[in-house]
Amino acid sequence: MAFIVKKIIHGRDYFYLNENKRVNGKVKTKTLAYLGKRKKEAEKKAKEIIKKMEKVEEEKHKIPATSHPTSNLTIKKELSIENINELTNFCKRKGFVYPSAEIYGGFAGFWDFGHLGTELSNNIKKEWWKFHVQEREDVVGIDGSIITNPKVWEASGHVSSFLDVAVVCKKCGNKTKIDKYEVRKVKCEKCQGEFENKGEFNPMFTTQVGPIKEDSIKSYLRPETAQLIFTNFKSVQENARMKLPFGIAQIGKAFRNEIAPRDFLFRAREFEQMEIEYFIKLGQRCPFKLGESKSQILVYSEEMQLQKKSPEKMTFKHAYEKKLIGDWHAYWLEQEFLWFVSLGANKEKFRIRQHLKDEKSHYALDTWDLEYLFPFGWKELEGIANRTDFDLKQHEKHSGKELKIFDEQSKEKILPHVVCEPSLGVGRTFLVFMFDSYTYDDKRGNIVLKLHPKLAPIKVAIFPIVKRKDFKKISREIFNDLKKEWNVIYDESGSIGRRYARQDEIGTPFCITVDAESLKNKDVTVRGRDSAEQVRIKIKDLKEILKKAIEGENILKFGKKVDTRKKI
Ligand code: GAP
Repeated sequence: MAFIVKKIIHGRDYFYLNENKRVNGKVKTKTLAYLGKRKKEAEKKAKEIIKKMEKVEEEKHKIPATSHPTSNLTIKKELSIENINELTNFCKRKGFVYPSAEIYGGFAGFWDFGHLGTELSNNIKKEWWKFHVQEREDVVGIDGSIITNPKVWEASGHVSSFLDVAVVCKKCGNKTKIDKYEVRKVKCEKCQGEFENKGEFNPMFTTQVGPIKEDSIKSYLRPETAQLIFTNFKSVQENARMKLPFGIAQIGKAFRNEIAPRDFLFRAREFEQMEIEYFIKLGQRCPFKLGESKSQILVYSEEMQLQKKSPEKMTFKHAYEKKLIGDWHAYWLEQEFLWFVSLGANKEKFRIRQHLKDEKSHYALDTWDLEYLFPFGWKELEGIANRTDFDLKQHEKHSGKELKIFDEQSKEKILPHVVCEPSLGVGRTFLVFMFDSYTYDDKRGNIVLKLHPKLAPIKVAIFPIVKRKDFKKISREIFNDLKKEWNVIYDESGSIGRRYARQDEIGTPFCITVDAESLKNKDVTVRGRDSAEQVRIKIKDLKEILKKAIEGENILKFGKKVDTRKKI
């Protein structure tokens, strides 16, 4: 049965003719045609298309077709990507992210990455590691365990510092956590209702280590990856012969029993962090150059917030010169911003905000967040705290082991300070790149996911233009060759337009088509996702050219024409 769907994109209506079909017991929706922007015109067009389809069916089966009754046209409404639920649905539909154990109704705060989401998330981590570890002389990486000696969490303050209680608003049901001494004083921020105390809240998940219950030890799933860096600090410094200032990086899972997991991957109970603890000798100045980015960013210091001023736009260098941010914070915030922008994020959607006094974690002297304008407002994307020597000192105290290192300059042993801890969630990063790359192309009538080629889950799709044996043979040869380098795909089903659309929607930056000319000239068509332009390339040069194009070089000279597409 065919039906009209209305999509609202940036407040404008777009109509489509869709059809639900049952395939292997599952109902699948297929878009049959784009119907224009007006309801009346869409209904007229839909009736014409359906009539044509009926005729084709009649011809085919020589029986009257009744599967698309024109009298039954209904209009369904779909939301644009600005709504987080729309992104959640899109990710599920295309195989990026699924609610965990969905066949059992899911599990709040847990998500599974599908075949495309796994690739995107791996590419994010790979690019983060390359920029923050591989390309730097002063940072090395580790990979600590998820469950460790519970004494680590006593020393770090995660066991005792969380003296919060879980509360529920009696009026609107808002769930949150607050200091246990504040329950009577604090009112619900949503409706000013009173809170009801629901008992002690500790965000750490507990587990038992040891197979026999009576002898087992209560331990925790780590709530941050950072502590494994502190406990291994001395060994890593000695083994890697690191000299201050230096950093230790780690990517890995973290777990928090969030009271209200929400907004898709934004606040999950199981998530991944990419963190660096950057150590200095107390007072050591930042030796790195500032001002690499001429771009201005909104700066929102604690003082501006307290004085109810608006954030001001300036460069990172200017913010440092105005003494709004310290040298190390200015440097690391700029590095993080540059990393996002280098991978295609929209620089206008970033700002930096200093934590207010009562917002800071128990270990932090000063914290700045790199914030991003999500559809649900400005939110923390990455936190950068100055943790001082808090953690190393605590671990020295609790373990009884010395963690000081020898300082060549003063010929003394010193305990380094963490001047900056860039700490970023993979899930939130995933959302940023999805939001900034999702566009709807009016002319093509399909979504185009303009991910940076380095992040794209599939780098190249290879198509024989029609299912001819000789075209298929060449296409397969190209596929077999390219798949040694990248995640590539071979597709021979459907019209060429449909195949392009399929790849546009999942962000594949390049499509290769093998046609009759390929047989004669030993070349193929390479189509660029963003401009839909095509160039012919010799098969023998493909790998070299694509290598550069995937790195982001415009070697194929796409996009020189005026881009008329509308960004959502
Ligand atoms: N080691 C410092 C630390 O963990 P945090 O501000 O609690 O600091 C750092 O977390 C980053 O981890 C956040 O900026 C965010 O990107 C990510 N993150 C934290 N909690 C998260 C959650 N529940 N779901 C998804 N990402 C989260």
